[in-house]
Amino acid sequence: MAITTPKYISELEPYQGGRPIKEVSRELGISAEKIVKLASNENPLGISPKAKSAIDECIREIHRYPDGNGYYLKLAIRNKFTLNPEQIILGNGSNDILELAARTVLSPGDEVIYSKHAFAVYEIVTKAVGGIGIKAKPSEDFGHNLDEFIKLISKKTKLIFIANPNNPTGNLIVRSEILNFLSRVPKHIMVVLDEAYDEYLNGDEKSIAFSWLSEHKNLLISRSFSKAHGLAGLRVGYGVGDKEVINLMNRVRQPFNVNLLAQTAAIASLKDDDFINQSRLINNQGREQLEECFREQRIQFIPSYGNFISFNLGDETKAMMYYQHLLENGVIVRPIKNYELPSFLRVSIGLKNENDIFIKYLRSFKK
Ligand SMILES: Cc1ncc(COP(=O)(O)O)c(C=O)c1O
Repeated sequence: MAITTPKYISELEPYQGGRPIKEVSRELGISAEKIVKLASNENPLGISPKAKSAIDECIREIHRYPDGNGYYLKLAIRNKFTLNPEQIILGNGSNDILELAARTVLSPGDEVIYSKHAFAVYEIVTKAVGGIGIKAKPSEDFGHNLDEFIKLISKKTKLIFIANPNNPTGNLIVRSEILNFLSRVPKHIMVVLDEAYDEYLNGDEKSIAFSWLSEHKNLLISRSFSKAHGLAGLRVGYGVGDKEVINLMNRVRQPFNVNLLAQTAAIASLKDDDFINQSRLINNQGREQLEECFREQRIQFIPSYGNFISFNLGDETKAMMYYQHLLENGVIVRPIKNYELPSFLRVSIGLKNENDIFIKYLRSFKK
């Protein structure tokens, strides 16, 4: 007899990530060293040298379980942002935090609001527990329209996801707009503010959302070590919220969800401001380089506050032809049809030489 599964599980579309270098190398017979992966918003600089030394040191200990409470990593986060460790929960990547939020607050049939072009994992974690995803109409520039969110709130709404900056569109919502929104959302609805790309923001652009927690106990801020910290392969992120909310989330968390190397590397990385500043600088320069190319090529792009840019090639066929041309020349970017932007591709911002290669093959496409 075949197993049974709820319809909301069998109807789920699995997450599609950027294509791995080795897979493309195998498939197209291009040597892995020649491939430029600009498909998963990773840090092209790699990781902080401090994190690297900490990993080398800690490797001797990996026969031990990690600290299931992540005491020292929470301490490092607390010290950096002046928080209480009870306000912090650690995740196996920030995706884990998004999922824990959904599993903590949702029952089948509850509604979750997110923007039409927002990060794909919101839909997956919602539907995986039988929640109903409600997509808010985007702003004209493909970003969040928080007034639309307010209109969609119903008795069944239990959770709202906001990405700031958003992936794949890169839009930023300004501080005053989020604060105004929070003051209008009923307090029993959890609002997850996903700040996976926060470290890439320049000074004044940051929302400084941690300081809002005392007033907004329904707010959960999610952060990642996968982006500017460069630890995507280790899987570590964290959530910050009211201690009672964190306490509830901890009940559904797996006991050892963040591995030993990830905790150790994250602690060291938090202490390396030079690395983060350098990563932001390289990203700012790369963004200018790519924007200049799009302008020169007369390709419409969405101005981005993250480490990626989505650009519009007019229609889906053209976008897939560009994608294939880039791929065959060893440049991996990301189609974003699954984000309801079929005529767009998304390119992660790389090092100057990687961006140069992307630009070379973007230009060589025969229109
Ligand atoms: C907006 C946003 N949130 C969260 C994540 C999840 O990142 P991770 O689980 O690697 O921390 C991503 C990854 O691309 C993202 O773009």
